[in-house]
Amino acid sequence: MDESFAKAPGVVPVGPVLGIETSCDETGVAVYDAGRGLLAHTLYSQIKLHADYGGVVPELASRDHVRKLLPLVRETLERAGISSADLGGVAYTAGPGLIGALLVGAAAARSLAWALGVPAIGVHHMEGHLLAPLLEADPPQPPFVALLVSGGHSMLIEVAAVGRYRLLGDTLDDAAGEAFDKTAKLMGLPYPGGPALAKLAEQGREGVFRFARPMTDRPGLDFSFSGLKTQVLLAWQGSDRSAQTQADIARAFEEAIVETLVIKCRRALAATGAKTLVIAGGVGANRRLRAQLAQAGEREGFRAAFPRLEFCTDNGAMIALAGALRLAAGQHETPSIFVHPRWDLQSLPALR
Ligand code: KG4
Ligand code: ZN
Repeated sequence: MDESFAKAPGVVPVGPVLGIETSCDETGVAVYDAGRGLLAHTLYSQIKLHADYGGVVPELASRDHVRKLLPLVRETLERAGISSADLGGVAYTAGPGLIGALLVGAAAARSLAWALGVPAIGVHHMEGHLLAPLLEADPPQPPFVALLVSGGHSMLIEVAAVGRYRLLGDTLDDAAGEAFDKTAKLMGLPYPGGPALAKLAEQGREGVFRFARPMTDRPGLDFSFSGLKTQVLLAWQGSDRSAQTQADIARAFEEAIVETLVIKCRRALAATGAKTLVIAGGVGANRRLRAQLAQAGEREGFRAAFPRLEFCTDNGAMIALAGALRLAAGQHETPSIFVHPRWDLQSLPALR
């Protein structure tokens, strides 16, 4: 167990929890109340700031979080119809992520909690993603299997309870979102590549190109997407490079990733006996993935639970929710500012 977590019965917060997300290129703030649900959330995306560089520039990201965070906190409290004095706790993303960006959120959250005399908690970013579907009506309950597919991670996790996570499969190289982004870049699409590639894929024709479904021909739940990127590069370089070809390749690439993810999800459900699959992280916003998993669920008798599109990508609501659950279970930390640029999800303590 991570020693920075102190189990403190009696510190159960009363009142809404402020959530702060600053792990990468999105400043997200939200207020979540255990009794009343999500009261407000705001998001500022730095996409324009990084677009000229073709990717996130960490130092620019940190500086922009500094500029945007406090105005967003004020706006979010206003939208929630509360003042800072009404807060019962503060949650912030403590990792994994860019260290400078994380420190901005951690310092603001810790200082605010200190000033208000309420507990604060550092939330694992991927636990936030994993719990995001719980923000929806009829929230899925553990046990379930979670497919976490973001820019930095592709993982299948067995969730026995909130905080009890077992890694079933991981990526050996590129994460699913990273594969989308890199593939988009090599075909000349603008940053951020994932959503641009997915949009282009809608214009692609079926069956013009076909790429491998990596690591589906052998048992196991791990992923590997970097070879797929090379296949696309070869196809693109050997093509006429027309707009239609670009769309056809995008479609075949998306089909390959989606089918691979669906195959591994079905395997993970079979291996664990779980009847619910939770999908989260930025790639969870992919429409083909959502449709194919929903169809597989109908066919095979499992429930596929997704967050709404805006809560698939980074946001403050998922951090407020995860923090509220942990604070309500009596967890908080010593008042030092800490972040974990790398952080094993399985090292988190269970709720009770
Ligand atoms: O969860 P997220 O916002 O940030 C991380 O924690 O990484 O995920 C961002 C990733 C990016 O790689 C982005 O290209 C990908 O999610 N993404 C998508 C789509 N929307 C975002 N990938 C495929 N299809 C989409 N519609
Ligand atoms: Zn994320």
